[in-house]
Amino acid sequence: MSDTLTSDDPRYRELFDVQKEASSTNAEIYGDLSPAMDRLRDTAPVMRGSLRELLQLPTLDHYSVKRQSYTLFTFDLCNRALRENELFSSEGYNDSPSVRAMGKVILKMVGDEHRRYRSVVQPMFLRPKVENWWKPTWITGAVEALLDRIDSKQDKVDLNMDLCARLPVHIVTRGIGMDEANGLEFREHLLRSTVGGHNLSQEERMASAGEVSRMLRELITRRRADPQEDVISALITNDLPLPDGSARKLDDEEVFSYCRLIMLAGGGTTWRQLGITLHALLSNYHLWELCRDNRKLVAPAIEESARWMPTDPVFERVLTADVELEGMHIPAQSRICMCLGAANRDPGRWDNPGQYDPLRPFQPHLGFGMGPHRCLGLDVAKQEMSSALNALMDRYPNLRLDPDAPAPELLGGVEQRGMSAVPVVLR
Ligand code: HEM
Repeated sequence: MSDTLTSDDPRYRELFDVQKEASSTNAEIYGDLSPAMDRLRDTAPVMRGSLRELLQLPTLDHYSVKRQSYTLFTFDLCNRALRENELFSSEGYNDSPSVRAMGKVILKMVGDEHRRYRSVVQPMFLRPKVENWWKPTWITGAVEALLDRIDSKQDKVDLNMDLCARLPVHIVTRGIGMDEANGLEFREHLLRSTVGGHNLSQEERMASAGEVSRMLRELITRRRADPQEDVISALITNDLPLPDGSARKLDDEEVFSYCRLIMLAGGGTTWRQLGITLHALLSNYHLWELCRDNRKLVAPAIEESARWMPTDPVFERVLTADVELEGMHIPAQSRICMCLGAANRDPGRWDNPGQYDPLRPFQPHLGFGMGPHRCLGLDVAKQEMSSALNALMDRYPNLRLDPDAPAPELLGGVEQRGMSAVPVVLR
C-alpha cells in the first residue's frame, strides 16, 4: 500500500476541515439546521424564497444569473422535481460559475444528452463492478492500511481525519487511474479552480485549473498508449452513442470534465457522510453494539444516515415552464431549491423521522438524489462506508467516543455538512 494514504501529509488537515471547506465557499454555518428545515416544511410544502432566505441566513452570491427562488420541502415535491428533469432542469447548474468551470459534465445535462453521456462510464459504477473490482482492488486494502496506521498511534484518534477523510480521496484517485501520490495535489487544485475558489483571485484559479489539466493530460496520454482497468481508460475507450445511432469516443476535454466531476463528487461527500454515520452510531451506543453483533445491520445503518442527515441537504434546479405546485403558481425560469434534508424527514412518509434508527423499515429516500441524476457513485460510496465500519467493528469492538475530547459538532452549512471530528478511544 502506498505512502500518501498513510503519511502525515499536512494537506489532509487543510483539505478535510468542514469549517474551512464551508468558508472557502462563503457558506459557513454552525450547528444542525434540521429542526429549522423541519419547521419550514411543516409550515408549507413549498415557499417563495431560497432555502437560505427562508432560514434567514446570508445569501450566497455564487450565481451569474439572478432569479426568483422557491423552495420545496416535502418528499413528494422533491421526489417529483428530481425525477422530472426536463421541467426542473439541471441546466440550472450553469448559473454557477464555479460549476461551469468543471466543463461539460453530466451533472448539468438533461434528457437524451444526459443518458448518452452517462452511459459511457456507467458500467464502471454498477454494483457487480463495485463488488468485484473497486472493493477487492482498492477499498479493502486501503481500509486495512488506514487501520494499521491508526493501530500504531495512541489509543485515542480522530476517525474523521484518520479514516473518513483519507479513504474516499484515495479510492476515487485510484479508481480514476491516477497515481496515488498525486491524489492530494490534484484535489487541492481541483477545489481551488472550481467550487472552493470563491476567495481566490482569477489568476490563482486559472493557475490551479492549469495544473488540473496538466495532470489529467499526462494521465490520458499514458492510458491512450496503454489502457488499464480504470475509470479513465473506460472514458477513453467506451463509445459515446450519438442521436443518429452512430457513436464516437469522448474527446480529451470531455474526459477531463468527467474526471473533474467524479473526483469532486467522490471525495468530500463520502468523507462527510461516513463521519456522520460513525458519530450517529457511537453517540447511540446500543446501535453501535447492535450493528457490531449483527453485521446485516451495517448497510441499513449507512442507508439510514443518508436519509436522516444527508451531507448535502439542498440541491437546485431551474424551472423550464410555468408550474402549479400545491396551489402555488411558480413561473418559468425560477430557481428551485429542493430541500432534501426536510424531505427525508417528511412525517407523511416516516414515523418519528428525526430519529436515527437503522431498524426502521426501508423506504427509498433522497440522500443520494433520485431520477436520472441519482448519484452515479452511490455503490462505491456505500461500499467504502461498509468496509470501513465492518473493519472498525472487527478490530475495535469496544470503540467509543472519547469522553475527554471536545464534543464534536455538525458544521459546514446547508450546502455541505459534516462532523468537526469523531474523537474515539480505540480499546
Ligand atoms: C455518501 C456519499 C455520496 C452522496 C451522499 C452523494 C450524493 C449525490 C447526489 C444527491 C447526487 C445528485 C445531484 C443532482 O441531482 O443534482 C449525486 C450525483 C453524482 N454523484 Fe454522488 N454522492 C456520494 C458519493 C459519490 C461518489 C463516491 C461518486 C464517484 C466516485 C459520486 C459521483 C456522482 C456523480 C458523477 C454524480 C452526477 C450524476 C449525474 O448527474 O447523472 N458520488 N451524488
